[in-house]
Amino acid sequence: VHDDEDLQKEDNIRCLTTLGHFGFDCLPRQLVNKSVQQGFFFNILCVGETGIGKSTLIDTLFNTNLKDKKSSHFYPNVGLKIQTYELQESNIQLNLTVVKTVGYGDQINKEASYQPIVDYIDAQFESYLQEELKIKRSFVDYHDSRIHVCLYFISPTGHSLKSLDLLTMKNIDSKVNIIPLIAKADTISKNDLQKFKCKIMSELISNGIQIYQFPTDDEATTHVNTSMNGLLPFAVVGSIDEVKVGKRMVRGRQYPWGVLQVENENHCDFVKLRDVLLCTNMEDLKEQTHTWHYERYRCSKLQKMGFTDVGPDNQPVSFQEIYEAKRQDFLNQCQRAEEELKQKFMQRVKEKETAFKEAEKELQDKFEHLKRVQQEETMKLQEERRQLEEEIIDFYKMKTASGTLQTQECTSIRKD
Ligand code: GTP
Repeated sequence: VHDDEDLQKEDNIRCLTTLGHFGFDCLPRQLVNKSVQQGFFFNILCVGETGIGKSTLIDTLFNTNLKDKKSSHFYPNVGLKIQTYELQESNIQLNLTVVKTVGYGDQINKEASYQPIVDYIDAQFESYLQEELKIKRSFVDYHDSRIHVCLYFISPTGHSLKSLDLLTMKNIDSKVNIIPLIAKADTISKNDLQKFKCKIMSELISNGIQIYQFPTDDEATTHVNTSMNGLLPFAVVGSIDEVKVGKRMVRGRQYPWGVLQVENENHCDFVKLRDVLLCTNMEDLKEQTHTWHYERYRCSKLQKMGFTDVGPDNQPVSFQEIYEAKRQDFLNQCQRAEEELKQKFMQRVKEKETAFKEAEKELQDKFEHLKRVQQEETMKLQEERRQLEEEIIDFYKMKTASGTLQTQECTSIRKD
């Protein structure tokens, strides 16, 4: 470089600085353009009791009015409602999927309330895994429905977490990024709210529940994310109404004593939640979902199927070796099952044969017996017939004899 500069000075050559980019420093722009063209997708799971404010918060977050009719409190089981929306902000397309619990916390026995949630999260991982395992994979048009974040709505009791909250969070914390929220935070006083937040965090820690930690390893977001981690759980208020404050219309809730402004950071943590969720950490949430939660699912699934990276001797085992061994195992199993079936079949055939023979013998005996009885009957009848015939002959003989006697008597009377 020095030599070139010296040469240029010597030759008095005019240097031009380049305008715009060229070479591989354009790569980030190519990525951005491609991503913008493809559009983005984000999947949110809202877990919370019926009427706790799930839909209102989602509407407030995305500036929409997606709420449909209210859910009933009388469902026998917990269900999930899945809604997908195409949103656009300037030239950015967002395919948003919101999965909401229905009937959560309404049953008398709440022990299994978390199960449908766990099943749903696992089902999305399973469908992604199945796509990955296909020979012809098609991730371009694949709708990735894995849940990127779970907004867990805690009731604003000001007291402590419910056992249902602990049970559910414990069962999903290894499957999804949980961000705990204190719902309808406008119903708690400032002092109580602070104590409530501390209580919730200490209960989560003592129960070993892992919630999502905003990443602090990126210089650009370290500062904001560290302070946000200290503010969890966020105390949020949602509203789709616009109220007048001074000369401005703001999203808020009007009360007899004043207005709660949703986007006022002194009133609640809504803006903080929106910033960390949508502006700062959306990509990290997706990455964590793929690299941690999905990876954990995939790993345990493949292990259950018998795949492993190292053998019993701690030596690496290739996928092909395991596949061959599994295949051989399977073939042996099939052969064993086939033989077992054959033997069972032969046994049953023998049993049936014996049963048929016994039945045949029984029938034969019956037939012989009937034949004997019939022969005896015939003989008896023949005997009776013979006797009758003899009687008839005797009768005729007697009749003839009596006729002769009568004739002789008549002749003797006439002579006299
Ligand atoms: P379901 O889908 O029926 O389970 O209800 P949800 O959890 O989606 O609750 P929704 O958003 O429908 O809100 C229920 C009621 O709570 C509505 O009357 C809302 O206006 C009210 N609400 C929602 N958010 C807040 C809040 O932050 N504070 C207060 N005070 N009320 C709220």
